[in-house]
Amino acid sequence: MQFISFKNYEQLSAYTADHIVNAIKSKPDLVLCMASGSTPSLTCDLLVEKLKDEHADYSKFTFIGLDEWVGLPPANSGSCHYFFKTKVFEPLQLRPSQYHLFDATSNDLKKECERMDQFIDEKGGIDIMIVGIGMNGHIGFNEPGTSFSLLSHVADLDETTKSVGQKYFNGPVELDKGITIGFSHLMNTKKVFLLANGRHKAEVVKKAIEGPVTEDFPASIMQKHKNGFVVTDEEAASLLK
Ligand code: F6R
Repeated sequence: MQFISFKNYEQLSAYTADHIVNAIKSKPDLVLCMASGSTPSLTCDLLVEKLKDEHADYSKFTFIGLDEWVGLPPANSGSCHYFFKTKVFEPLQLRPSQYHLFDATSNDLKKECERMDQFIDEKGGIDIMIVGIGMNGHIGFNEPGTSFSLLSHVADLDETTKSVGQKYFNGPVELDKGITIGFSHLMNTKKVFLLANGRHKAEVVKKAIEGPVTEDFPASIMQKHKNGFVVTDEEAASLLK
């Protein structure tokens, strides 16, 4: 695992977006998997801007959504699907065959997980994964205590995730379960970037990088990834030794 720190959120986001654009230029059929949320928000905006400005051919790349709140339809403005639809798919006018997200309204979520695992297999694996870190150390909805060896699965959400997750919605919403890509896929991904910004993430970044590698603190798995990068701003790095 490598650690990269930038002065601020703008620089961190520009670096990540540049990396993805260059990767698409050198491998047009790149498979990108991303988390939604506050952290990768500017990366998504810059990715769209740069792909257009640089006239990159993004007609062959594939986008995979890392996770979704169980029960939420894509039309819910707090859903991961809505986030990617409005920030990436529509601005880039991607064809539906270019992206794959969990259908969290399915009444057969096990099958939904199998569908995702199969899709990843058929694509030959994920090239780049961009993830964030939760206030309990989760990645995706791999909550504390989740086995490092899981494929896609349904998770009972931790109390921290349920309360912090309220920030994505206009009013209070009951969040109970999540559907997520698991760490078996993360470990098989060619390059993984964990992004973190802001003073409020300093504690969890420190635990992820300097703490023990344990399923009780999921983001510590980054220490095990041969091509894993933790990319932060100065504030999120402020407690590191
Ligand atoms: C969302 C996701 C979550 C977030 C994490 C950090 O798709 O996978 O694990 O990455 O909760 O969220 P933000 O970036 O909003 O602080």
